[in-house]
Amino acid sequence: MKNIVILISGRGSNFEAILEASRREHWETAIPARIAAVISNRPLARGLETARREGIETVAVDHKLYPTREAFEEELARTVDRYKPDLIVLAGFMRILTEKFVSPREGRILNIHPALLPLFKGLDTHQRAIDAGVRVHGSTVHFVSAALDGGAIIGQAVVPVLPSDTADSLAARGLKLEHVLYPKVCRAVLEGRVTLKDGRAMMDDETARSLAVFSDAA
Ligand code: GRF
Repeated sequence: MKNIVILISGRGSNFEAILEASRREHWETAIPARIAAVISNRPLARGLETARREGIETVAVDHKLYPTREAFEEELARTVDRYKPDLIVLAGFMRILTEKFVSPREGRILNIHPALLPLFKGLDTHQRAIDAGVRVHGSTVHFVSAALDGGAIIGQAVVPVLPSDTADSLAARGLKLEHVLYPKVCRAVLEGRVTLKDGRAMMDDETARSLAVFSDAA
């Protein structure tokens, strides 16, 4: 049985989408894999409540209680490793992870970023996309490397940018597709159909096609 550990900071809707897919598609027997724990750096994250309600183990590692980023990260690493994760899924996890956390786990950590990388790294991506006048926007799931939003791209979801859009309406349209994309990527990585090699995500054409998600899919 492969263990998935999900790291969140807030709402946790991507975690919920992964949980729903894992149940609908019977990941426990089909892969086999299960969500072993949900960990948050914010003790009041809504996603933690959801996880508890669904009978999934939760842990809060509150970054505010640690004097330095390193001290927080060491405790986070200890907590994550307790679940012997085959896959670590950052789903709205809002702390930057340093090389020390990332390196020993490279190829096993995923993140979702709300933009079509390599465009719009960092925060405020929806407003920045509107300001730039792009006609498509979306989200990217990538392997995590020590460079912020810089790891190898695995899959992307694409939505139109409409003249009437605000940052919020664009974010909502994008989020719907994240919920389609992220579970698919998790499953493909867990099944060994996607691997990290020499800084690139390796997969066959069929997998790549399934991990390019367009807005009529949601
Ligand atoms: C998503 O928009 C994701 O792209 C970004 O943070 C948001 C998380 O939302 N990294 P949720 O907590 O999964 O609902």
